[in-house]
Amino acid sequence: MSEKIVVTGGAGFIGSHIVEKLVGRGFEVSIFDNFSTGYIENIKSVKDRVKIVRGDIRCPEEVQKAVSGAKAVFHMAAFSYAEESIKKPEEYNRVNIDGTFNVLQACHKESVQRVIFPSTCLVYGANAASGKLEESLPLNTTNPYGLTKVTGENYCRVFTEVYGLETVCYRIFNAYGPRMQNRVISKFAALMFQDKPPIINGNGEQKRDFIFVSDIVDGLITGIDAKKSQCGKSYNIGTGKGLNLKKLIKLMNMHMGKNVDAIYKDRVKGETDLIIADTALARKELGFAAKIGFNEGIKITMDWLKEDYPKGPKF
Ligand SMILES: NC(=O)c1ccc[n+]([C@@H]2O[C@H](COP(=O)([O-])OP(=O)(O)OC[C@H]3O[C@@H](n4cnc5c(N)ncnc54)[C@H](O)[C@@H]3O)[C@@H](O)[C@H]2O)c1
Repeated sequence: MSEKIVVTGGAGFIGSHIVEKLVGRGFEVSIFDNFSTGYIENIKSVKDRVKIVRGDIRCPEEVQKAVSGAKAVFHMAAFSYAEESIKKPEEYNRVNIDGTFNVLQACHKESVQRVIFPSTCLVYGANAASGKLEESLPLNTTNPYGLTKVTGENYCRVFTEVYGLETVCYRIFNAYGPRMQNRVISKFAALMFQDKPPIINGNGEQKRDFIFVSDIVDGLITGIDAKKSQCGKSYNIGTGKGLNLKKLIKLMNMHMGKNVDAIYKDRVKGETDLIIADTALARKELGFAAKIGFNEGIKITMDWLKEDYPKGPKF
C-alpha cells in the first residue's frame, strides 16, 4: 500500500507543483484546499490521481479528518502577500497562525509523523541590509505576513521539541514559475504584454534571489527524508544568487520579444537592497542546491505567462 501525504493548499502555485512531484513518486496524495487563491486547473494533470478535499484550515475538525492516516503533511495553505497583510492583519492571523496551529495540532492528535512548513525570506526583514541572509540571523520581520511565518516556524519547533511531531521549515526566497500569480514577475509581465512600462521603486539595482518553482519543490521534498536531527529547524531555499530588477526586465523583454522600458520612482522606505539566501546550511545538511538559472527559468515562465495571459486576471 502506498503512503498517504496530505498537501494543504495543494491547488495553489507552489502546492500544485509539490502535488505533481509526489504523485510522480507514487505517493497517495490528498489535497486539502478551500480554493480561495488556488485553482482546479492548477491540478488538472493529476486530478484523477489525487483525492481533493474542499476544506478550510481554520476549521480544526475538517483538518483533523483530512490528515488522518497520513505519513506526512505539506502545509502550503496560507495567505502570502506582505502588503495585503498590512491591510488585513486579522485575516492573516486567522489563516496563517490559527490555521497552522490547527494543522500541527491535528497532526499531533492523528500521529502524523512529519509536517513540512514553507516559511519566507521576509522573516529576516530589516536584517536584509547587506550580505547574504543566513539562518542564524535574528528575525526582524516588518509586516504581519512575515510575523505569521515567524510564529509558524516557532510553533513547528515547539511541536517537535514538546510533542515529538517532526517538522521541517523552509524559508523560500522569491518564487517564480508557471502558475505564479500576483508577484513581481507576473505583475511586470501583465504590463509589458500591453507595452506598458513596469514601475520600479528605486534605481533598479536592488537584487532579489528569484528561485524557480521546480527548485523549490526539490528543496521542500527533502523534508520527507530529512534526518530527525534536522527536525525543528529552518532552512533557506534560494539560489544564493541575486538578480537586479533592471536585469530582470531585460531578460523578460528578451523572452517576450518586447522592448519596454521601466519607469523608476522613489524607493519604498525601508526596502532593502539585497535579499539573497545564504545556501550553505541547506547544501550541507539537506544536499539541496538550486539547478535552474535565471535565463532558463524566466524563459519557461514567460512562455507560460504568454499562453495563460489571455485567460484572465491571474497576474
Ligand atoms: N510564492 C512565494 O513567493 C512564496 C515565498 C515564500 C513562501 N511562500 C509560502 O508558500 C506557500 C504557498 O504559496 P503560493 O505562492 O503557492 O500561494 P498560493 O496562494 O498560490 O497557494 C495557497 C493555497 O492555499 C489555499 N488556501 C488559502 N487559505 C486557505 C484556507 N483557509 N484553507 C484551505 N486552503 C487555503 C489557496 O486556495 C491556495 O490553493 C504559502 O504558505 C506561502 O506563504 C510562498
